[in-house]
Amino acid sequence: MDNIRNFSIIAHIDHGKSTLADRLLQITGVVGDHEFRDQMLDTMDIERERGITIKSQSVALPYRASDGKDYVLNLIDTPGHADFSYEVSRALVACEGALLVIDAAQGVQAQTLANFYMALELDLEVIPVINKIDLPSADVDRVKAQIEKDLGLDSDHALAISAKEGTGIEEVLEAVVNRIPHPKGDPNAPLKALIFDSHWDPYRGTIVHLRLFDGKLKPGEVIKFWSNNATYKVEEIGSFLIERKPRKELNAGQVGYMIAGIKTVSDTRIGDTVTLEDRPCKEALKGFKLVKPVVFSSFYPISSDDYEELAVALEKLKLNDASLTFEKDHSTALGHGFRCGFLGLLHLEIVQERLEREFNLSLILTAPSVQYVLVLKDGTETIIDNPAKYPDPVYIQSAKEPFIRASIILPDQFLGPVISLSIDRRGVQKDMHYLDSSRVELTFDLPLSEVLFDFYDRLKSVSRGYASFDYDFLEYRETELAKVDILVSGEKVDALSMLVHKDRAYQRARRACERLKNEIPRQLFKVAVQGAIGGKIIARETVSALRKDVTAKCYGGDITRKKKLLEKQKEGKKRMKQVGNVVIPQSAFLAVLKTD
Ligand code: GTP
Repeated sequence: MDNIRNFSIIAHIDHGKSTLADRLLQITGVVGDHEFRDQMLDTMDIERERGITIKSQSVALPYRASDGKDYVLNLIDTPGHADFSYEVSRALVACEGALLVIDAAQGVQAQTLANFYMALELDLEVIPVINKIDLPSADVDRVKAQIEKDLGLDSDHALAISAKEGTGIEEVLEAVVNRIPHPKGDPNAPLKALIFDSHWDPYRGTIVHLRLFDGKLKPGEVIKFWSNNATYKVEEIGSFLIERKPRKELNAGQVGYMIAGIKTVSDTRIGDTVTLEDRPCKEALKGFKLVKPVVFSSFYPISSDDYEELAVALEKLKLNDASLTFEKDHSTALGHGFRCGFLGLLHLEIVQERLEREFNLSLILTAPSVQYVLVLKDGTETIIDNPAKYPDPVYIQSAKEPFIRASIILPDQFLGPVISLSIDRRGVQKDMHYLDSSRVELTFDLPLSEVLFDFYDRLKSVSRGYASFDYDFLEYRETELAKVDILVSGEKVDALSMLVHKDRAYQRARRACERLKNEIPRQLFKVAVQGAIGGKIIARETVSALRKDVTAKCYGGDITRKKKLLEKQKEGKKRMKQVGNVVIPQSAFLAVLKTD
């Protein structure tokens, strides 16, 4: 065990985690220089394009240190977004230490702190790594001062590197060997292993990523998952190089994979304990929880012929994404679709993008919603995330909505606008303190629903990109809800209904009506677009009647132009939905749901 080190790289978004990981792969020869592909560990195209790590991969790095000994350094990759913070925490449990990467120009940011606290709570050895020292705007001394003040770490022990240019990488590996403790554990005790990730392989089924704390694991043994007592016979175990390398045995302290005929990744739970059926460990590893979706939206195919395809595509995505949930949903306006649940808005966007790009589906999404707890007058409680399921308000006693605690770090010149934005989003300020002479950490309690609604973009814009943001779920709090319905020509378009805080109802209804008015093509008659709460109309716009034939303006008999216009209309029709006597184009649905 002395020659093993288990570690992660943690960082604020874009501070260079993936670039450093790639360098480590390259310098330890795991990937040859000629096959070096930028960001080896980010495997999905969308990850590469968006430049964020979503799904983690681990890899064993063989390294001969300056002491002449050979080591195995298990790099456990972590997802880099607040939506996935539970996954990050489980990956860290598998480690004894972490490299905390900090951008030399940007310094300590909100997720630097959040990740650091997480590592600290788990008693990990944290090595601060100042990255991007090649940048002209790099200010290593300033970042060192922040490491001392914000993190309380000795900055003399911080490493200064450029992952991009490859400077200081050897020192990083030496620090991993010399400063991160080797794993401890009893190889003769009953098996106790942590599931820190799993992924799906089309040929082998679920590949479980394990960290063994005690005991051993061999092919042929029968393992048991602690959380649900499910048992499986182990087919293969091994280590992660870039490809999987089968082994005869995994031992306490080691990291590796297991294949055991597990059908989907949903049958494995991140954070769960794996043990042997006939010789179980006494207790499970701490900190396990079931991750539940927090954001919901209904997905409808534009063309109802695509419904089956959407079902198949969601099943496929689910194979590799245990946190995605979906169930059948139906809308009068849009037909059959699925109500889907996500860990956050980013997760939703990724799934949407994959459905559209990898499966070639055109979709209409309903406005993302959080889960509300309704206390009914008969004393029962019900949880809803779908406006369609909202009961008649006369039955509702009270409602609760999820709140998050947000940490925002920003230069003090933007304090005013950032505080106003947070208060405008019904935030309650909890704390404010200076990290140094000009940087402030603000703590706000905010309703999750308000954060979903373009909070992040607004924050970036009012702080000219300088504010950084991280959050944790806090609790459910009392709220006042209203269901806003949208009516077109007097008919309710159910897919456009939304649950909002009562104070937002007018604003959201008005906006939806304005946008619909601009998107609904004129018809031969006047079309009223209305927003309503119950029977009460709270907003109204009118699409005036068509006076002329659309082709009339192409006077002079330019027949090709006329034809083109008609073609275009035909094309557009395919993407329209008939609601009562009015056709609504897809663009109208999208416009209403778009945040700005
Ligand atoms: P997430 O996956 O979202 O967590 O981001 P990340 O932390 O992995 O950042 P990534 O490695 O993708 O780097 C972000 C950007 O910084 C990329 O454009 C990199 O090319 C750039 N970058 C990384 N390291 C360096 C460096 O040492 N110097 C310079 N100048 N740029 C760097």
